[in-house]
Amino acid sequence: MSPLKKTNRTTTPPTEEDCYLGQFIPLQYHHHMLMDDYRMNSFKAAINEAVFPGAKVLDLGGGTGVLSWFAAAKADKVWYVELNPDLIREARRLLKMNLGGEKIELVHADAFKYLPPEPIDVVICEMLHPAMLCEKQINVIKSFKERYLKRFGGVLPRFIPEAVLMAVQPLQQNHRFTGFHAPIIQFQLPGGIHEGTLDLAPPQLYSSIDYTQTISEELCWEGVFNLELAGQVNALRFITKNILSISTKDNSVIEWQNHYLVLPLAEPLQASAGNLLSIKFNYLAGGSLAHLQNTISAILK
Ligand SMILES: C[S@@+](CC[C@H](N)C(=O)[O-])C[C@H]1O[C@@H](n2cnc3c(N)ncnc32)[C@H](O)[C@@H]1O
Repeated sequence: MSPLKKTNRTTTPPTEEDCYLGQFIPLQYHHHMLMDDYRMNSFKAAINEAVFPGAKVLDLGGGTGVLSWFAAAKADKVWYVELNPDLIREARRLLKMNLGGEKIELVHADAFKYLPPEPIDVVICEMLHPAMLCEKQINVIKSFKERYLKRFGGVLPRFIPEAVLMAVQPLQQNHRFTGFHAPIIQFQLPGGIHEGTLDLAPPQLYSSIDYTQTISEELCWEGVFNLELAGQVNALRFITKNILSISTKDNSVIEWQNHYLVLPLAEPLQASAGNLLSIKFNYLAGGSLAHLQNTISAILK
């Protein structure tokens, strides 16, 4: 067996490509996103609620173009912005097959740099990853708002999503896979019952971000859980609920949840019901999963 080669990766400054790593979602995964009815119907309803006849819309991170196309049902004009050339080609192919596609201008650009040529009414941005990691939703919206106000002044457009709520919950998580012990990162469908998972305490909110207000990439939290059940605390579940739109007519809310992110703890803790569990973490939105995982501290008090 040949020894593992050491690389100098950690000492090499990150390239532009490294910075975007995790955002280049392969084409087949975009096709999978089209097949996700929960995601598609939630966004379609929110866009239908927020976009009015004659509106001007910007879609940051347009992918296959589906959200731009939902907007084009009512809007006069949609600017679709995408960095990945594979996706531009795919959006061009698909939008030709869908009535209304001609109202969408495909722009090959970086959402961190692009501004539309005139003020707009609605911004759609779906760069949403559990716990706001990996994809650059918060970073892109923060940058967009600063540049937009500088260029156009006045009022900000409406955002889809409007806000995000994030919560954390201690778990006893089964880390055996057909007998094989592997404490790995897992993703779970939101809601419902998860076989092999014991919720040891109810979730606690650790961040709520309203995109129209001042936003920060720094997500730090410190809190104490009163454990309701005895068990081995060996993982934390991160819950990410996106408030896609709040109806201006009846205040009803259209939301969409990302998959739950379940991160294993470095050191599992054996706990009794009634124990107090102190949790701390501190990460940057858009950072890697490991970045959050490495900052987690879990202590039984
Ligand atoms: C989660 S996908 C959503 C795609 C599409 N809006 C949808 O809902 O199906 C995020 C998209 O953002 C694009 N993206 C990521 N970073 C970007 C950037 N800096 N500028 C432009 N597009 C970007 C990715 O290539 C990807 O297509």
